[in-house]
Amino acid sequence: MIKIKNLSHMYKNRSEEALRNISLHVKKGESVVIIGSSGSGKSTLLKCINRLIEPRTGKIFIEGEDIVNCHEKKAEKIRGKVSMIFQNFNLIERNTVIDNVLNGRLKYMSTVRTILGRFSREDYRVARENLKRVGLEENAEDRVSSLSGGQKQRVAIARALSQRPDIILADEPVSNLDPKLMKEVMDLLKKICDEKGITLVTSLHFLDFAKRYGSRIIGMKNGTIVFDGKPVDLTEKDIVDIYGKTEDWYLYGKTGF
Ligand SMILES: Nc1ncnc2c1ncn2[C@@H]1O[C@H](COP(=O)(O)OP(=O)(O)OP(=O)(O)O)[C@@H](O)[C@H]1O
Ligand SMILES: [Mg+2]
Repeated sequence: MIKIKNLSHMYKNRSEEALRNISLHVKKGESVVIIGSSGSGKSTLLKCINRLIEPRTGKIFIEGEDIVNCHEKKAEKIRGKVSMIFQNFNLIERNTVIDNVLNGRLKYMSTVRTILGRFSREDYRVARENLKRVGLEENAEDRVSSLSGGQKQRVAIARALSQRPDIILADEPVSNLDPKLMKEVMDLLKKICDEKGITLVTSLHFLDFAKRYGSRIIGMKNGTIVFDGKPVDLTEKDIVDIYGKTEDWYLYGKTGF
C-alpha cells in the first residue's frame, strides 16, 4: 500500500536532516503507529507520504505509483486516496459541520460543479452517512466553532472518510483531547478503519496508546527508524532507544492498559 525507499529530507535553513534514509513497507489494512520523542521526524514522515512536503531524496510509492517523481496532476490523484487527520483538526471553524465534511468530497466534484460550488446529492448522502458513523448526525448544521474538541476531531474523521480513502494518515490525532476523549476518538478511528479495510498510519505520543491501537509500531529517533515490529516485541531496551533515558518514560506512559 505504501512503499518508502531511502527517504531523506532536510528542511531549508537546517543543518541536520529531519529524515535520514528511511525505508518502510506498509501493507493494506495495517494499523501502524509511529512513536518517538519530539523532533524525531514523525510529522515530516507523514507529510512526505501525503506529499505535503517534497522529500529531498528517496522514493515513495502509493499502491505502486511513484508520488515523488510525478506531475502535479497525478500527485493530486494519488493524494486523493490518502486522507489526513491533524492534531489541531484543520477544520473551517466558522462553517457548519456538514460543509466541513463535504470538503472531503471535493475530489469527486466535476469541474462544472466546482465552478458553481455545488455538491451533488450523492456528496450530501455520503457526508451525512459519515456524520452518522461518527455520531454527529444531529450536529450537521452547527457551526464547528460551537463544538467540543472531541466532536471536532470526529468531524475531521467524517471529512476524511468522505474522501473514501484507502489510507488515513493521522498526525497526533488525539493530542489536543483529554484522556477520556483520546480513547473515544482513537477507538472510533481504529474501528472504522478496521471495518472498511483502510490502512491507518498514526503518530501517537503515548506508549499505551501505541500498543493498543497499532498492529505494528515504528519507533523513530533523530530521523531514523530504530524499531519496527509488533507491540509485544517492544522491549525495555527498544523503548530506551526510542525515547532516551528511562526516567523520561513516565512522560509517555510506561504501563499498559
Ligand atoms: N517547517 C519546518 N522547517 C524547518 N525545520 C522543521 C520544520 N518542521 C520540522 N522541522 C524540524 O525537523 C525535525 C523533525 O520534526 P517533526 O515535526 O517531523 O518531528 P515530530 O516527531 O513530529 O515532533 P513532535 O512530536 O514535536 O510533533 C525537527 O528537528 C524539527 O525542528
Ligand atoms: Mg509532529
